Amino acid sequence: MAREPWPEPTVEGSAAIAGHSMYYRICGDPNAPATVLCIHGGPGATHDYLRPLADLARSGYRVVFFDQLGCGRSTRITDTALFTVEHHLSEVDALRRSLDLGRVHLFGSSYGGALALRYAIDHPAAVRSVVTAGGLASIPLTVAEERKWIDELPASVRATLRRGEEEGDFDSPEYRAAMMEFYRRHVCRLPVWPEEVQYSFDQMSEPVYRYMNGPNEFTIVGTIRDLDFSDRLREIRAPTLVTGGRYDEVSPTVARAIAARVPNAELAIFNASSHMPFWEERALYLARVTEFLRRADAARSLRPPL
Ligand code: PHE
Repeated sequence: MAREPWPEPTVEGSAAIAGHSMYYRICGDPNAPATVLCIHGGPGATHDYLRPLADLARSGYRVVFFDQLGCGRSTRITDTALFTVEHHLSEVDALRRSLDLGRVHLFGSSYGGALALRYAIDHPAAVRSVVTAGGLASIPLTVAEERKWIDELPASVRATLRRGEEEGDFDSPEYRAAMMEFYRRHVCRLPVWPEEVQYSFDQMSEPVYRYMNGPNEFTIVGTIRDLDFSDRLREIRAPTLVTGGRYDEVSPTVARAIAARVPNAELAIFNASSHMPFWEERALYLARVTEFLRRADAARSLRPPL
């Protein structure tokens, strides 16, 4: 099936962040009045799987993507001292300042959703609105929910996953096939993964992913395993839209828990989607996000100037 072309113009560049080179891509009018800054997950993925968000350029937004340090086309640093939530937040801030983006709409997927929420808590004046897709504020809750999805897999798949876990062998072909059964149900349900999604997985930074996350999406033994800032979500002042897929590895229960705590948050669960509703139900998804951003911008222009 022919894919729609990506909106033009696109500008690629690199910014000096913390003494390293950070790759960014800007889609749409570089002088657009409103910016959507997109934060990828993994931790350790690349921005590529978020490319459908570039469709927002057609609604007049400047859409900015970047690869976190250690990831994708940015410097592939390996210093684990920099593989922290705090450092990732400082990278978002440094890029926002470096590109002079001003107050931004933040979009974050998965772990990037956690970063978007945390950034909105730490930098309220810099954030116009927040949209999360399969985002999370609690890894323990997310992992408990993933366990429930695993319980619904065929018995033979579950047995293979259990054996891999017991033996600590997450790389055997059998284990990886079982893992893909989970991914095809709960990470991206499209029968053929878009090349950008495949690319982000193929290019996953092993140093970042292994250290912060773990060997795969549902074996979270890395440094983020205890991450939980749920009790700080009430501090968020920005309009917030929490999205996810009905079959999302970061389940609707996680999305509801976030939406229940962020003041006045909106919730949108996409019924034919898992972790990538922006691909799995692309038109519907982008329409919902566009409508939310428009309202967030309108509400803001009604507010008296500071
Ligand atoms: N790996 C997910 C991402 O894309 C984050 C995640 C962590 C998902 C833990 C589930 C459990 O960022």
